[in-house]
Amino acid sequence: KEIVVSGIRSTGFLHLGNYFGAIHNYVKMQEAYNCYFFVADYHSLTTHPDPKDLKGNVFRVAAENIASGLDPEKVALYAQSDIPEIPELYLLMNMLAYQGELEKVPTFKDKVRLNPRNVNAGLLTYPVLMASDILIHRATKVPVGKDQEQHLEMARNFANRFNQRYGAELFPEPHVFRFDESSVKILSLDGNGKMSKSENVNSTIYLSDDDDTIIKKLKKAKTDAGPAAPNSEKPDYIENLFTLMRLVSAPDTVQKFEDDYNNSSEGNVVIRYGDFKKQLAEDMVAFIRPIRENAAELQRDEDRLRKILKAGAEKARESAAKTIAEARKLIGINYY
Ligand code: TYM
Repeated sequence: KEIVVSGIRSTGFLHLGNYFGAIHNYVKMQEAYNCYFFVADYHSLTTHPDPKDLKGNVFRVAAENIASGLDPEKVALYAQSDIPEIPELYLLMNMLAYQGELEKVPTFKDKVRLNPRNVNAGLLTYPVLMASDILIHRATKVPVGKDQEQHLEMARNFANRFNQRYGAELFPEPHVFRFDESSVKILSLDGNGKMSKSENVNSTIYLSDDDDTIIKKLKKAKTDAGPAAPNSEKPDYIENLFTLMRLVSAPDTVQKFEDDYNNSSEGNVVIRYGDFKKQLAEDMVAFIRPIRENAAELQRDEDRLRKILKAGAEKARESAAKTIAEARKLIGINYY
């Protein structure tokens, strides 16, 4: 079976972007592949979260993954910090990662721009840690959203560089994997960039949002006066709402609104965005409610979550130990 790795940072509540960009692919992959899914708690440390929040954040992300359909019997679900082989590989890989290439990464440049007072080395070497998460299991497929593609390219570079330097084929190339292209980038409901954990709370739909909150947020989602001519191309904030509708509503519902949109023109706007958003809200509420309720119930069962994470870590460490032993040997750390 091919090996799959992916992770989600424990920096906040999971939202529709995380769900459709990542988790729903995890769920579809869990039968056919050998899957390792983890909570990236080390990656969350770049912004120095309050120590008393860490455990709750990690357990919540795990619970939200399971509530979304991930089966911990089929996949290894673990906390990154439970696998000491990951930081060990990270240290080894840091010797092959260059300042220049790390400084050029767009996500790093964004962080520097947004928070110039906290440009720590962990932030700079974020892609090295991420590559180590993936390479530690010698994964070939990585289900992630569009925003992670550059990081994946770096992981391939580090893998090849290691193989070349040590004349081995230890690491295969990891590639982005997804079932469909429609949900690789879910936009914020205000139309300003991608949906994200910490920005624009009112334009982000979280898996933990209650029914009224979901309805309120969708009601406020950005629309406009309607298309100026039949069969117009949709502006991206409208296309985003259609994408969400395609993901949660019945196909004939989507078709009806698509037709209304395509038959609209200036002076004769057939599509009524109020009705469109109301329908979307209704279907979204029905979609999220079971996930929210299951996640809340799981979070109350700390015992169960702890057992799941420990079992996941055990499985992940088995695979990680083999890789790190070979990496050490190739490098020459092989003394006794
Ligand atoms: P993170 O925690 O920011 O996001 C988790 C996953 O959700 C996807 N995603 C989105 N997809 C579509 N539309 C959006 N608006 C959207 N927002 C987030 C992300 O692409 C990601 O798949 N660096 C990673 C975590 C990580 C990782 C790894 C991933 C650490 N090590 C190893 C894969 C393999 C991150 O910050 O994701």
